[in-house]
Amino acid sequence: MADSLTITDNRTGKQYEIRIADGAIRAMDLRQIRTSPDDFGLMTYDPAFQNTAACRSRITFIDGDRGILRYRGYPIEQIAERSTYLETAYLLLFGDLPAPADLDSWTREIGAHAALPASIPRILAGFERDAHPMGMFLTAVGALSASYPDAKRVADDASRGLQIRRLIGQTATIAAALFRHRNGQPSIAPDPGRSYPANFLHMLFDGDAAASQPVFERAMDILFILHADHEQNCSTNAMRSIGSSQADPYAALAGAAAALYGPLHGGANEAVVRMLQEIGTVQHVPAFITRVKRGEFRLMGFGHRIYKSYDPRARIIKETADRVFAATGPSPLLDVALELERIALSDDYFVSRKLYPNVDFYSGLIYQALGFPVAMFPVLFAIPRTAGWLAQWDELLGDSDQKIARPRQIYVGPERRDYVPVDARTPRSVIA
Ligand code: CMC
Repeated sequence: MADSLTITDNRTGKQYEIRIADGAIRAMDLRQIRTSPDDFGLMTYDPAFQNTAACRSRITFIDGDRGILRYRGYPIEQIAERSTYLETAYLLLFGDLPAPADLDSWTREIGAHAALPASIPRILAGFERDAHPMGMFLTAVGALSASYPDAKRVADDASRGLQIRRLIGQTATIAAALFRHRNGQPSIAPDPGRSYPANFLHMLFDGDAAASQPVFERAMDILFILHADHEQNCSTNAMRSIGSSQADPYAALAGAAAALYGPLHGGANEAVVRMLQEIGTVQHVPAFITRVKRGEFRLMGFGHRIYKSYDPRARIIKETADRVFAATGPSPLLDVALELERIALSDDYFVSRKLYPNVDFYSGLIYQALGFPVAMFPVLFAIPRTAGWLAQWDELLGDSDQKIARPRQIYVGPERRDYVPVDARTPRSVIA
């Protein structure tokens, strides 16, 4: 076989020929490699999936070495410049850009499903005013599972389509409602007559003209486009993993949002601004970099598992930030961020590890300029990522290669041993 790998097992001297397709071998093909008939067979050990493809996908392409990101083949730069979030969501979900009539009906349908069931505002009202928005967000999304029992029919195309429309419409409504709850303000019903970002700003700021300028509306839409999908990241993997058990999409999406919440993933945008606030002034940047290099903490908003060059989303966000700051006046933290980037990009610690700014490095500064509290930032990431999570979930359910996700382990615990009665056991404090 030309496209194959020949493996010699030095334990037994036996040779195996394993097929290579799409630059990968199938892990299950290794199972035949055994030392004896009762040997389980060879496995791979890849705790953080650093070299394991878990699916074949047609949605998003990333070349991390060359800084390329494409949705369904379209370069992110073109989509960010010319498209809208709702059109991008359609593209991710259905594979092609919509014709005018398709875009009209898609937009109408999202608007028609944007209002929340009555239980959700009641659930949000039960939270303390200072509860973290991401905790509220994933609770509300999970609660939609109870409101829409029809969502359990995951094999039914029509049901899946309906839940997709509800979720894309309602995540923005949930985010606006919890934002207003934190401010002690009543929520505002969605207005399907407005564009997606205009409606979001309307539900947040109740028509406040300063907060709803066209430049902010477009900035919001660009940020939504840039965050809409990013192939098999931590939260998408959670969405697929939960979805593989055929749980409904609300339950799966609440789990994906929980994965996004962490500071190494979508919570990084919040962590970046807290870090910039802590640094405070440009003069403090060199000392901060020294502490990062000593390994005391990480430079948040820097580094990426896949990108080993400048994250193309960060470049677009930086340009968007310039337009927003032209309208709002400069952010006091922008100079600190620019100085951090300047020093990091010329310092061997960061250069040798290929650590560049990622999508989260500048996004928080824009969110702050638009009037969002820092704790809201991960929620602003989750709203558009909903489109990507759903596209990946829908692809998973239509993929005959997929089964319930269930990794193997290498057991390293105790051998078989016998139960010891409680009064015959040694206290831990003595063992220590
Ligand atoms: N600051 C300082 N050092 C870093 C950083 C950083 N931000 N990121 C990685 N490193 C170092 C790390 O210490 C290691 O050094 P050494 O080889 O000496 O031990 C080397 O670079 C490789 O790091 P890694 O932990 O093996 O890389 P990873 O692929 O497992 O982690 C990451 C990727 C994004 C979790 C990590 O770069 C990080 O923690 N960045 C900060 C958090 C962040 O900005 N996250 C947002 C990611 S992009 C948006 C998203 O996913 O939501």
